[in-house]
Amino acid sequence: MPIFTLPGQAPYVLTAPESLATPRLLVFRDRVERNLQRMQAYLEEVAPASGYRHLCPHVKTNKSSLLTGWLQQAGVGYFKTTMREVEMTINAGAQDIFVAYPLLEHDARELAHLVRKFRQIKFHVQVGSLAHAEILQRIGRNEQVTWHFFIDLDVGMHRTGIAPEDAFSLYAHLAKQNEFIFAGLHGYDGHIHHATAAERRAESQRAMEKLSAVFQHFRRERVHIPRVIVAGTPAFRFDFEILHKALGDETLVQVSPGTWIFWDSNYERLAPGEFEIAAVILAQVMDIGQPHRLTLNLGHKRWSVDSGPVRFFSRPGLKFVSVSEEHTVLAHEGTETFQIGDYVLLAPHHVCPTINLYEEFSVIGEHGEIEIAASPVDGRNR
Ligand SMILES: Cc1ncc(COP(=O)(O)O)c(C=O)c1O
Repeated sequence: MPIFTLPGQAPYVLTAPESLATPRLLVFRDRVERNLQRMQAYLEEVAPASGYRHLCPHVKTNKSSLLTGWLQQAGVGYFKTTMREVEMTINAGAQDIFVAYPLLEHDARELAHLVRKFRQIKFHVQVGSLAHAEILQRIGRNEQVTWHFFIDLDVGMHRTGIAPEDAFSLYAHLAKQNEFIFAGLHGYDGHIHHATAAERRAESQRAMEKLSAVFQHFRRERVHIPRVIVAGTPAFRFDFEILHKALGDETLVQVSPGTWIFWDSNYERLAPGEFEIAAVILAQVMDIGQPHRLTLNLGHKRWSVDSGPVRFFSRPGLKFVSVSEEHTVLAHEGTETFQIGDYVLLAPHHVCPTINLYEEFSVIGEHGEIEIAASPVDGRNR
């Protein structure tokens, strides 16, 4: 029975690789389940017995109604999405969806239709400027939809969001309009990718101080903030610890990591062992050319190169040489023998865009059996 090893991970067992066409995206169910348990334990270190109340995971990593359904079965009740994953998240049965992406005209109209169609689901949007507010207001009026909105704060990433010092005046403007109901504050600190935990904690402190200052301003103005949503995977433990202490119980503090559910070699490098690599790619040696070189039947149409090449392979001594659309060339030290058709397991370096490159994945059970041959990545490419 083939057993594959990846650095720092428990062995991956796969009983019948020959029944799968490669390259193939595989999701190991027991690893996802352990990641879920770990997530709950991390949250409960800060907020004992709270379950997943403080989690609003971004589903852009899994993009799958199957996985989003697993999250719900585990007890997760809040979800963060971009417009691309909204329908998938609805199909998975979610009841609370925050579309954390500034909505331009077309997307806002599309979401308004979904809000009207699925009245039992609580949808939330973000607003980070008067221009975004104006789009939502116009469409809200035309479509007779009221928007539950989070103020999107720029807490240091400088990608979207309003400067913290301007947040209250944006809120005050929206509070006067009938089309808007205040849901809370959103501050994604995706700039926190620093190499050490100490640096990440310090950056998290800086970002959460900005958010806390806004919170205090609202409090002075006697405006209740129902919810605050922050963080991706690298900073969520720090952000949660800091904010939960700072904001108290009257505001629901939630963290919104996405990558943790599958983990990848990029985050494993930052925080070894924090979660397990649950989504991997099965490829095969398709040619052996030069001495100590081999070529896999997989290229960057099937693994994302945006944050660098794959580094974790299931055979020792393999080193990345080059990648093109359909091929990956690797070097080896000559101590291992390779044959055409050999299986190699790879851990994506950046799992979110890698998932987006697959139409479907197979679910592998605890003993290496194929539990589900093909489950769609139904939140992709829309
Ligand atoms: C707005 C927002 N929230 C949360 C996340 C999740 O971050 P991570 O992938 O580090 O878990 C992302 C990731 O891109 C994001 O853009």
